[in-house]
Amino acid sequence: MLANKPKTKILVDGGDPEETLRVRKLLGFVDGQTTNPSLIAKNPEIQERIKSGDNLSPQEEKDEYRKIVQVISPLVGDGGVSIEVFADVGTTAEEMLAQGVEMFSWIPNAYIKYPCTRAGLRAAEMSVQRQIRVNMTLCFSQEQAAAVYAATRVSKDPVYVSPFVGRLDDRADNGMDLVRNIKKMYETSDRHVYELAASIRHVDHLLASFAIGVELVTVPAKVLEEWAKKNFPMPDRDFSYTGVDANGKPLKPIPYTSLDLNQPWQSFDISHELTTKGIQKFVADYRSTLKRSA
Ligand code: E4P
Repeated sequence: MLANKPKTKILVDGGDPEETLRVRKLLGFVDGQTTNPSLIAKNPEIQERIKSGDNLSPQEEKDEYRKIVQVISPLVGDGGVSIEVFADVGTTAEEMLAQGVEMFSWIPNAYIKYPCTRAGLRAAEMSVQRQIRVNMTLCFSQEQAAAVYAATRVSKDPVYVSPFVGRLDDRADNGMDLVRNIKKMYETSDRHVYELAASIRHVDHLLASFAIGVELVTVPAKVLEEWAKKNFPMPDRDFSYTGVDANGKPLKPIPYTSLDLNQPWQSFDISHELTTKGIQKFVADYRSTLKRSA
């Protein structure tokens, strides 16, 4: 078990309550959980149904998602459980909000995940006005994080923004630089947005997240198990993170941009191809669980 709880909250990135329980036993606690359509599609019970040819209707898929988060909800601490709306590139803000309102009622500790797109930001803006907690996902740029800040200024609860480290690394950009840049940008803010490092692929990503001092990090069970196997190392004062690709070559640095957080969210250039690709992948994984006719 982990002797000293780190300052950074540790969330489990997954869609299987059994995994959450396993991690809770391993660490002695779990601060929260993040889910997404791909992770829910991988849930063992859903996979079992699909293997036996019993694909789901959209309503059944939603019911399954609700049941999964209802089991996870009491297992975690105050980092809450993030539930993601089913959104395609054409889904409107109002459609996302309607899903968010419903999903928020499923459990008492929900955070609703919307993508960092114009529709997602507008949905978040309307959500925080209704005291619906939000986690802005598929964040790949500092501009997107600035827009999240500006769109949710009136929120009474902490708002999460999730930069996806591993997916930036995959295209040889140093994802941890984005995490560091967002942290720096928020330093002189009202601090209503908490940074949640996501798409964590290995123990070094986890240690770098601790060293940067993000408020939260979401981690697949297998990375936490790897960390436990190494006896829970923590970054010391001399810790330095060097992002390298699969061939050991250094990743391309992402430079810091100076942005004015007081500007309206619509003024930031929030387009990013990885956000679009991410939405398309979530849609594909979600659809893979559905009946052909659905
Ligand atoms: C968390 O909220 C994200 O959905 C998750 O970290 C995505 O990680 P991946 O890039 O490994 O799919």
